Amino acid sequence: MMITNDIKYIGVNDHKVDLFEGQFVVPDGMAYNSYVIMDQKIAVFDTVDRDFGDTWMRNLKIALDGKKPDYLIVQHMEPDHSANIARFVTEYPDAEVVATAKAISMLPQFFGEGFAPRTIAVKEGESLGLGKHNLRFVTAPMVHWPEVMLTYDEESKTLFSADAFGKFGALDKDDDWACEARRYYFGIVGKFGPQVQETLKKAAALDIARICPLHGPVLDSNLGYYIGLYDTWSAYRPEEKGVVINYTSVYGNTKKAVMLLADKLRALGCEKVVTNDLARCDIHEAIEDTFRYDKAIFATTTYNGKIFPQMHAFIHHLTERNFQNRKIGFVENGTWAATAAKNMKAMFENSKNLEFCETTVTIKSAMNSANEKEIEALAKEIFER
Ligand code: FEO
Repeated sequence: MMITNDIKYIGVNDHKVDLFEGQFVVPDGMAYNSYVIMDQKIAVFDTVDRDFGDTWMRNLKIALDGKKPDYLIVQHMEPDHSANIARFVTEYPDAEVVATAKAISMLPQFFGEGFAPRTIAVKEGESLGLGKHNLRFVTAPMVHWPEVMLTYDEESKTLFSADAFGKFGALDKDDDWACEARRYYFGIVGKFGPQVQETLKKAAALDIARICPLHGPVLDSNLGYYIGLYDTWSAYRPEEKGVVINYTSVYGNTKKAVMLLADKLRALGCEKVVTNDLARCDIHEAIEDTFRYDKAIFATTTYNGKIFPQMHAFIHHLTERNFQNRKIGFVENGTWAATAAKNMKAMFENSKNLEFCETTVTIKSAMNSANEKEIEALAKEIFER
């Protein structure tokens, strides 16, 4: 597939993967992107997942049309992109691997001490001329590993962006970019907002016509939309007004309270109300929702003296990703020791800029009429104030 006259796509679609990176469900599969720039010198950008080495090598040979590559640009050493480096070097022993020193130090960790490819270590701002095309390297540590770099091709104004601007989903599935890019971003890169902000600052100095990520489609129009979303996400700003209610329920009583709260919110005019049963939903969808909206409610029961395990894991997912800048409230349920709200609040004690609702709903087994009034008060407080 041609991206420009000189840039060819040689990536693959994965519809076999069960859990991407060992934890993310990907019902629409996954794309591992790889590119070639054909010039006086030929550069290949990254390899693909181990299971797709044959397809990738076939795509590469078709793109090369009998020529030999001069460089393999390794932007990221995570195996979904690096797994075929040794195979590439064996096939093309005269080609050089271009990467950061950190990435080069990882090569023997993955491929063994006996594996010593010809390497060129590049630093921030250094260039590599191919002929017409001049590649400039932009380091992007922790987006998503410490060795990551992006590459800017001055001739075509293309930013090869490694994992940044990637999404879940194979390229032969036409799903909404933002939905699966947001779930991907908060699931995989969400902890590293400050590093993404640094990378966006560097990118702002470049005249970018097209973004070629390692997952998801090539982005070549409306780039302000995608870059704007990355800025919002990495600055931990809410993207939209709305209330997400994350809950667990053992016998349905907490769920009943949650559904009443959702009804009350809608009756007040709240247009976006999302409920997530944390024991049953995709946890990464719930993480995505909770970073997307500006308000969140957490509803759970006392369990083993603390809180229900799925809620505990969920709040941990949020706090380790620097959850902040939101308004939140609590609903707790406990038959003899209703302490879940106190325990949930304690888990957020190091989170920045959270506003806590004064109203906490405390249910002792099943909702009573006083609880219904508290739920109404909580709905008004989180929505109206
Ligand atoms: Fe697509 Fe961080 O690997």
